Amino acid sequence: MEKQKVLIAGGSGLVGSFLADYLYDLGYKVLILSRSDRSHPKYTYLKWDLDRMYIDSEALKVHHIINLTGAGIADKRWTASRKKEIIDSRVLSAQLLHKGLKESNHKLLSYTSASAIGIYGDRADEQLSENASITGVDFMVECCKVWEAEAKKLEAYAENFSILRIGIVISSKGGALSKFILPLKLGQASYFGNGAHYYSWVHIEDLAKIIVSSLTAEISGIVNAVSPTPLTNKEFMRACKQAIASYALLYPVPSFVMKLAMGEMSKVILNSNRVIPQKLNEAGFKFKFPELREAVEDVVEREV
Ligand SMILES: NC(=O)c1ccc[n+]([C@@H]2O[C@H](COP(=O)([O-])OP(=O)(O)OC[C@H]3O[C@@H](n4cnc5c(N)ncnc54)[C@H](OP(=O)(O)O)[C@@H]3O)[C@@H](O)[C@H]2O)c1
Repeated sequence: MEKQKVLIAGGSGLVGSFLADYLYDLGYKVLILSRSDRSHPKYTYLKWDLDRMYIDSEALKVHHIINLTGAGIADKRWTASRKKEIIDSRVLSAQLLHKGLKESNHKLLSYTSASAIGIYGDRADEQLSENASITGVDFMVECCKVWEAEAKKLEAYAENFSILRIGIVISSKGGALSKFILPLKLGQASYFGNGAHYYSWVHIEDLAKIIVSSLTAEISGIVNAVSPTPLTNKEFMRACKQAIASYALLYPVPSFVMKLAMGEMSKVILNSNRVIPQKLNEAGFKFKFPELREAVEDVVEREV
């Protein structure tokens, strides 16, 4: 039987690299869209250029598209130009895929777009299912709204369409956890303010499994891609400490210090998002890592 082809736009990043291996092992043929010239023994790398609205036409001759493109949310201080880059990379990538599919009149089996739980804004201890209203006004809320709106325009081009509101991805290779690992190994772990704000997270392998469920149409529409156990910031850091260095000292850092150090971007670590995977639960999705401590132990041990 012919292998199904999956294009991962932005597939060279943290999630995409893991996902590419995961899909390859499941028997998919994997193509990756990147701004750079790259090669890999297992995948086909293809180029695109969002500034020139250029895309390799081979990229669209696939059964599935997963769009993970986007300038890192918390990589650099949120200046006006960085904010523009964060939004443009997400909006233009969706627009370019849209344009390509429209011109080639090609219909996909599935289109899956990343989004983020930042869309819910700062919501204290409110439990946020996919039905929660979007009420916030901060940058991440605005960014996710335009990101999702642009993605939604691709709905007509796929038999199954999903937008995944992803939580903090647990991986030892990048993202939030990797920033905590070194200080923890040096015996230090900090929580922010009173540590009562919620973090929602997902192990990278569970996220890959969720993405596959969108390809196979077990899930569709807006889906919270988070584990079933959101934790307060203090509980989150305590679980990381237990998994990596139980001897480490856990101490509070005042919120104003983080605001001074990170500016507006401090919202990424100070906002509260208690997000519930209601759609995944309804679909009977089985998490391999429902508990954070085991999730962290696993990624550190396997270096994934
Ligand atoms: N990691 C998390 O904790 C997390 C949480 C919530 C949501 N998400 C979302 O999930 C998606 C994947 O996450 P990730 O952690 O794998 O992201 P990532 O490692 O930052 O990778 C995203 C990819 O986007 C491309 N990219 C970066 N800057 C770009 C720009 N200015 N213009 C166009 N393309 C650009 C890069 O590919 P090339 O350099 O090859 O072009 C990069 O490999 C992202 O949309 C992210 O916002 C992630």
